[in-house]
Parts: sequence; structure tokens; C-alpha cells
Amino acid sequence: MSDAVEQAWQTVEACPVLTLGELFERDADRVGKLATRLEWGETGALFDWSKTHLSDDLMAAFETFAEARDFAGRRAALLAGKAVNITEGRAAEHTAQRGVGSDLAVEEAAALHHRMAMLVEAIHGGALGEVRHLIHIGIGGSALGPKLAIDALARENAEVDVHVVSNIDGLALEAAFEACDPATTMIAVASKTFTTIETMTNAESALDWLKDGGVADPYGRVVALTASPDKAVEWGVDETRVLPFPESVGGRYSLWSSIGFPVALAVGWAEFDAMLAGARAVDEHFRDTDGRANLCLRAAFADRFYTGVRGCQTRAVFAYDERLALFPDYLQQLEMESNGKRVTADGAPVSGPTAPVTWGGVGTDAQHAVFQLLHQGTVEIPVDFIASIEPGDALTPDHHRILLMNCFAQGAALMQGAKGEDPARNYPGDRPSATILVDDIDAATLGALIAFHEHRTFANAVLAGINPFDQFGVELGKAIARKIESGDSDFDPSTEALLEAAGLAST
Ligand code: F6P
Repeated sequence: MSDAVEQAWQTVEACPVLTLGELFERDADRVGKLATRLEWGETGALFDWSKTHLSDDLMAAFETFAEARDFAGRRAALLAGKAVNITEGRAAEHTAQRGVGSDLAVEEAAALHHRMAMLVEAIHGGALGEVRHLIHIGIGGSALGPKLAIDALARENAEVDVHVVSNIDGLALEAAFEACDPATTMIAVASKTFTTIETMTNAESALDWLKDGGVADPYGRVVALTASPDKAVEWGVDETRVLPFPESVGGRYSLWSSIGFPVALAVGWAEFDAMLAGARAVDEHFRDTDGRANLCLRAAFADRFYTGVRGCQTRAVFAYDERLALFPDYLQQLEMESNGKRVTADGAPVSGPTAPVTWGGVGTDAQHAVFQLLHQGTVEIPVDFIASIEPGDALTPDHHRILLMNCFAQGAALMQGAKGEDPARNYPGDRPSATILVDDIDAATLGALIAFHEHRTFANAVLAGINPFDQFGVELGKAIARKIESGDSDFDPSTEALLEAAGLAST
């Protein structure tokens, strides 16, 4: 840490912290200051960070800290397509897929989207025969985004029935086969590298399934979504059905590229485009707004406070909406794969904790399972609630009213606490939460929500001084799995015994 950074961090740490009750008591305009509406086209959301411990002083201290970390410079470098992923010597150009980035990257993204749109149109129009199902095979960033978006936006009236399969456990693929008819099914093989063992094994099995189901030319039914087009062609996919995205789009940031193809196929191009537009609106806000008014940075101030100052080891996210049930899963990869690091961008050991464990679930289910610990457990866990004013269901309005009332009640209860008749009934209160209240869960809003969290994750990385765009931590386990597969038997006694017990030991 440079002296300026060190000094600015000390100021953050030394900032007096009031309780949430005191913060509201002392500032009549707290909600006005910390609950801010952002819009994208006709919809928008309220980002309410007033039930966190951010105060004017703390935010001012964080603003100075962000300056010391050259937040503005790092943001400019990101959006200009500079090699911000320094360990891998490349840019991180996911925003260019939404139209914000270097001219060249934006132009290339537009060309890719044009090809995607043409293919979607051709399939919808029957040019490739009758296509009723798509099995999308990918894992990690090549699956989580499509799965989330399809679950959120294509619950009804999907133009094509999409099944996202990620796990190597054959049960996952078998379930998709069960739901599809080989005669009317296409396969999307989604892999940035086109080498991931789970994806390639599943893809081979899907081809066998097509063949066994009487499809004469199984490769003719495959679309490849990848940053390694040569490998896809070598594997057997016809060039015309390879949709290549740039190497500079990271796996967990790739939904906006051709990895989003199944989403466009399910909901139609106009909806996919609306998702890009929602994300773009947040990109522009992130690019053009400084200090605490920048909602992604403001959220990161709170995140750094809880992780770095208060030592919170986890952060929970509860979607009070079935359509966003997969949002916590999506955020886990985005946040933990990006910021789960132990060295700074220059390779020095970090001076404090970087990312908390992101976890969560869906409300109100979670209230009846894990909220006990949030209210009365001994650890402090900052919570995010996400809810929609418009319901997704068409039942009696009671359902949505009760859902929203419960969401808001949890935030209030965490903050205010209560004195009970005995210690077991005491609630300490002063527990932080933030609420994102969207107008509706439409395509633009989903895009905006994801982009908000991408930039929040980036802002956290800048404040922590780390590179969020590599993920070397996932490599060692893969290498050991390859060693096992190659028949190597030089492992620890526990691993050897497990291999032996499962009949996998080399002879
Ligand atoms: O193992 C981690 C990872 O590399 C993720 O970063 C990525 O999203 C996932 O695997 C899948 O990789 P690919 O798209 O190359 O198959």
C-alpha cells in the first residue's frame, strides 16, 4: 500500500460509527441521501442503502480512499479497453458488448450481435427445420447467466424451450434429454476456451443422443458460443454456426456476448437487446458519476466497510421474487471468482480481507430457514434484499402484497431489534441491510441489475487493490483431476484411499 492509500484507509477505520438508529435520528434527510432512484428507459429501481452504517463522514472518508486508489483512473482504463487484467495482459471489455467501450470493441460487438440476431431469426423462421428445444451446454460463466436470464424472463411463452446443462453428473444431461425430442432439438456448446472437460464431455454425449435419436447430421444441429472459434471448428462445428466472442470478455462477464444466444432464442432478439440497453444505462451511470452519487461505488463503500473494517466474512442476498431465484447463484461466481484473491494487482500479499462469501436465497422461504441466525446469531451479516413492485404472478394481489410486506419487515426488524421478556427473546438490532426495489423484472431491469453488480464488484476490487479479472485459484484442482485421470498415483494417503474406495486408483 502506498502512504496515501494507507493514510486514507486509516481515516476510514478511524471514522466514528453510529448505530443505524442514531444515524436516522440525527439526519432527517437520511432516506433522501441514501435511497436513490436510477432509471433505464421506462423502468428503474430504488437503491436504498439507508439501513447501512454509511454516514456522511464515512462516505467522505471512502471517497478520499477511492481517490488514493485512483478509482477514476482504473474505471477509465476499464472502459477504454486498457489491459486492466494485468496478470493475463488483457482488457476486460464486457461493457463494450453493451455499447460502452473503445470504438473498435463496440463495433466488433455490434457485428457479433448482428450475426446472433440473424441466426436467432433464421431459427425462429424455420430455416434450420423445426426447432422446439435447445440444450445449452456450458458451465460457470458460460451457464449461470443464461440460466438466470431464462428463468427470469422466459417462464411463459418462450419461443424455444431452453435447458441449461452444466454439471458433468450425467443426471443433469439425462434430465434435459428426458424433456426434449432429438428430432426438434439444437445443441449450443458454450465455452470460452472450448476445452472445459465438463462441457466437452456433455457435448459429446449430446451428439450421441442426437445420433441415437435418428438425427443424420448431429453436428449440423450444433451452435458454438466461444472465444476459441478454431477449436470449435476443429471439434466439428460448421463455421457458419460458430459465434465467436472476444478473448477480452471474461467468462463470468460473458452473458452479453454470444453466450447470451440461448436467451435471445428463448425471449426473442428485442428482449435480449432490451437487456443490453438496461445494462448500458448502468454503465453510463457508472462511467459518468463520481463519489457517493455513483451507486455502484456507494454500494462498494458499504461492502468494504463491512468486510474490511467490521470483519464480516459473509454477505447475504435474498431475492423476494421467484424470477430472481437464481440471482444469488449468479452473484456467487461474479463476486467470489472475481474478488476471492490474496494478492494485490502487483502480486504483493493483500493487507486485509478482500471478498466476503456471497450466499443467499429466495424470500420468503429463507425467512423460515436461515433468518434466525441473521437476527440473533453472533455474527454480523450485511444483507441485500431485491424485490419488485410489479408482481410476476396473476393470482390474487394478496400474494405479492404479503411478499413485499415481509421483505420490508425483515429489513426493519434487522435494524430496530427488540427487547424481549428474557435473553432468548432479545434481538440486538443494528444489523445492516440494503434494498433494491425494482419497478418490475423486465429484460432491461435484469440487465441493469447484473451490470450494477458487475461494477460494484469492480469497485470493490479497486478499493481492495486487487485484479478481479483473473481466476488462477480454479486451476490447481483441475490440474490434479487431470493427474488422476492420467493414472498418476502420487497423492496424499487420504486421496489415495478415496480413489481406492471408488475403484479409481491406478493399478
Ligand atoms: O473454472 C472456472 C472457469 O474458467 C470460469 O471462469 C468459467 O466461467 C468456467 O470455468 C467455464 O469456462 P469455459 O467457458 O472456458 O468453458
